[in-house]
Amino acid sequence: YNYHMTHFVMSAPDIRHLPVDTGIEVAFAGRSNAGKSSALNTLTNQKSLARTSKTPGRTQLINLFEVEDGCRLVDLPGYGYAEVPEELKRKWQKALGEYLQKRDSLKGLVVLMDIRHPMKDLDQQMVSWAVDVSLPVLILLTKADKLASGARKAQLKEVREFVQDVGGDVEVEMFSSLKKLGIDKLRARLDHWFSQ
Ligand code: GTP
Ligand code: MG
Repeated sequence: YNYHMTHFVMSAPDIRHLPVDTGIEVAFAGRSNAGKSSALNTLTNQKSLARTSKTPGRTQLINLFEVEDGCRLVDLPGYGYAEVPEELKRKWQKALGEYLQKRDSLKGLVVLMDIRHPMKDLDQQMVSWAVDVSLPVLILLTKADKLASGARKAQLKEVREFVQDVGGDVEVEMFSSLKKLGIDKLRARLDHWFSQ
């Protein structure tokens, strides 16, 4: 798949407004500010395909992109943003759970976590929801450029040990949009999911 050809399709305000549930979809999820939109831009080699921001909670809509006919990438709004009212947070978390459980075309989930503080409660919930419905997961430990090599490896090891106990099809890789690290692994995983 040529990810450089990816183009924007539409934004949906919520799960109910997604396009028809056919083809293959891979979603990018993670805490607000984890680097989801940046990863999509790096993967597709486009500066501003997905909007990135220093302000957490930038992506408020579900943004859909098409790699080619019937192959979609989904940029989900980040979860866990402190300044969002509790009520709204709960609503969004519920919607995410429903999306993971009910979206038939969803064949893979990329969960992005800042390598400096991975596997927070909501991250664990996302991974366990995915495992519950046999949805394969690729965890990307983002912003790896922010840590020295030793610290990076220690974090990778710790998260890998954690997911071993969770079971399911869960892989963990390091990633940096800034240093273009881990893109080959991401691409290989997406190729695999899209070619099923
Ligand atoms: P929301 O849409 O708000 O949920 O955030 P997001 O997960 O889409 O994060 P986004 O890609 O907008 O990135 C958030 C901030 O982290 C921006 O300031 C990015 O420049 C920065 N960032 C993203 N990836 C990296 C990386 O690999 N290295 C470094 N150093 N900074 C990064
Ligand atoms: Mg974003």
